[in-house]
Amino acid sequence: MTRCASELAFPSRGLAWRAPDPISVALETERLTIRSYRLEDAPEVFRVIADSREHLLPWMPWASGHTSVEFTSKYLAEQMLARGSGPAFTGIGIGIFEKDGGAFVGGTGVHDARADTASCETGYWIRHDRVGRGYATEACGRVLSWALGDQDAGGLGLRRVRVYCSSGNLASARVPEKLGLTPEVRQRDDYYIEGIGPTDRLGWGVMANEWDTTRHSIIPGSA
Ligand SMILES: CC(C)(COP(=O)(O)OP(=O)(O)OC[C@H]1O[C@@H](n2cnc3c(N)ncnc32)[C@H](O)[C@@H]1OP(=O)(O)O)[C@@H](O)C(=O)NCCC(=O)NCCS
Repeated sequence: MTRCASELAFPSRGLAWRAPDPISVALETERLTIRSYRLEDAPEVFRVIADSREHLLPWMPWASGHTSVEFTSKYLAEQMLARGSGPAFTGIGIGIFEKDGGAFVGGTGVHDARADTASCETGYWIRHDRVGRGYATEACGRVLSWALGDQDAGGLGLRRVRVYCSSGNLASARVPEKLGLTPEVRQRDDYYIEGIGPTDRLGWGVMANEWDTTRHSIIPGSA
């Protein structure tokens, strides 16, 4: 996304970033556990997506695909396999769970990981009955620390993370804003949202030297 056609046609090795192999994700925040999916999560993940479908659409079109627990199981299996992709790694979806009681509350992950610029995108969703508690911001801040943290310390060792959303998705835009990420992109009418039409693509970015991976927050004055 937001790459020019020649970049896509003639990919450069560039910085030749490589994902750790295998990837193991077990992150904690004050209220949340963010971890790799397990196959036994499938019934609950399926139920939560089904219950939240109206809330997730139209922003997350994949939500309409989860029409059976078998489909969700296949998705979870793919995320488990992604942990061992090595040089072929392009991303992984991970789950967000409440520490108190263990309920599954949403998803996040890293996507479109690029070896040339040692960068990735992140995203997030929170189930309909848990929004407005700051969970997306709390989870996203922790995922940024994981993505930008050193590989020696269990991170992905990336240099840069991108966040995109539609200009129509005001709740989503608040997450990078609250985290203090740098607004980098406003592409007019570049993001088609079903039922709404073309909307602007908004994008934020954060560099590893701007992010405090201990406090999960922007380093004041760095950007
Ligand atoms: C976007 C989403 C992840 C936010 O989750 P959340 O846990 O409620 O997020 P947070 O509580 O951390 O922050 C949400 C912010 O958006 C604000 N907000 C919520 N609805 C809003 C609206 N309609 N207009 C403006 N702001 C809104 C909240 O007030 C809060 O900001 P504040 O803390 O300044 O008051 C959740 O609504 C969701 O899953 N939406 C559907 C999927 C989606 O759009 N994912 C992102 C795709 S890019």
